[in-house]
Amino acid sequence: MSKRIGILTGGGDCPGLNAVIRAVVRKAIPSGWEVLGILEGWRGLLEGKWRLLDLEAVRGILPRGGTILLTSRTNPLKHPGGMERLIENYDRAGLDALIAVGGDDTMSVAAGLQEAGKNCVGVPKTIDNDLSGTDQTFGFDTAVSTATEAIDRLHSTAEAHQRVMVVEVMGRDSGWIAVACGLAGGAAMILIPEKPIVLDQVTEVLRRRHRRGRIYSIVVAAEGARVSTEGEQAHVVLASQKTDEFGHVRHGGIAQVLAGEIEKRTGMETRYVILGHTQRGGSPTAFDRILATRFGVAAVEMVEQGRFGRMAALRGRDISSVPFSDALATRTVDDELYNVAATFFG
Ligand code: F6P
Repeated sequence: MSKRIGILTGGGDCPGLNAVIRAVVRKAIPSGWEVLGILEGWRGLLEGKWRLLDLEAVRGILPRGGTILLTSRTNPLKHPGGMERLIENYDRAGLDALIAVGGDDTMSVAAGLQEAGKNCVGVPKTIDNDLSGTDQTFGFDTAVSTATEAIDRLHSTAEAHQRVMVVEVMGRDSGWIAVACGLAGGAAMILIPEKPIVLDQVTEVLRRRHRRGRIYSIVVAAEGARVSTEGEQAHVVLASQKTDEFGHVRHGGIAQVLAGEIEKRTGMETRYVILGHTQRGGSPTAFDRILATRFGVAAVEMVEQGRFGRMAALRGRDISSVPFSDALATRTVDDELYNVAATFFG
């Protein structure tokens, strides 16, 4: 009987997932492995949904967004007998190893499964780029490119109408996308979760800028940015109080609140745009295709070398790996990068 690797994609989707799946299949099959695609993230292993992936199944998927395996935010540990069912189905599927492609939530379940004696390796994914243990996740570069293109387009309409334009990007716990697209797109101000800010500081920067003769401004806000008014605790704006199975609340709407406050306080006509899931969709950039492919190949090598309980990681220019435990914390924005962006505020 041939040896079998399973692969699943968990959490929010991300451009480059299909590139990882393709890389795993193309690397593993010629070395004598069967590859089993587990459908819908951890839900698929919980409920026994999977299909064999052959070379034909991954033909043409390299430039495609989304994931041919589908995904979910299912946390098996929140389901009765969850871990036992994962273990049972891991065995029933005849797996020798499982490659879990995801963020910290997905890695935490993989770590639990590894602890229970089932071979797992991880591949780091999230457009938010906030996974510790790796210098970058795939998907981030694409999200930043998409957001930057949107900001480029907003410049001309903002200028034509002499408006302030508030652009909301994803990033509930960290502001990597906001800082990167704000820097690349020439934002007058960038608000991120790591740097709580008082509203008056934002309006003062805009007033100063407009006094110097600028007739329009772009403000970029991460969805999880924390803003307060004088004397108040900085807080985030939630789109919903409901939490998902990993305990995450849904952010969204900070741009609308900010735009209203900026207009009220400064008299400058202000509009807002929420880029939302457009940042997660579409074809990965060349950078993300390459990074995702390198991670996929590395994951198969890790399986072959028996280096389980670890996640592939980018360190500098090299691919290496770290224990799952190193990948479970949020990686916040580098001060150095934020300070460069802040040089251009106002
Ligand atoms: O995957 C992380 C993320 O992109 C966050 O930045 C964002 O808050 C969340 O996904 C949105 O997820 P959903 O698809 O569940 O709305």
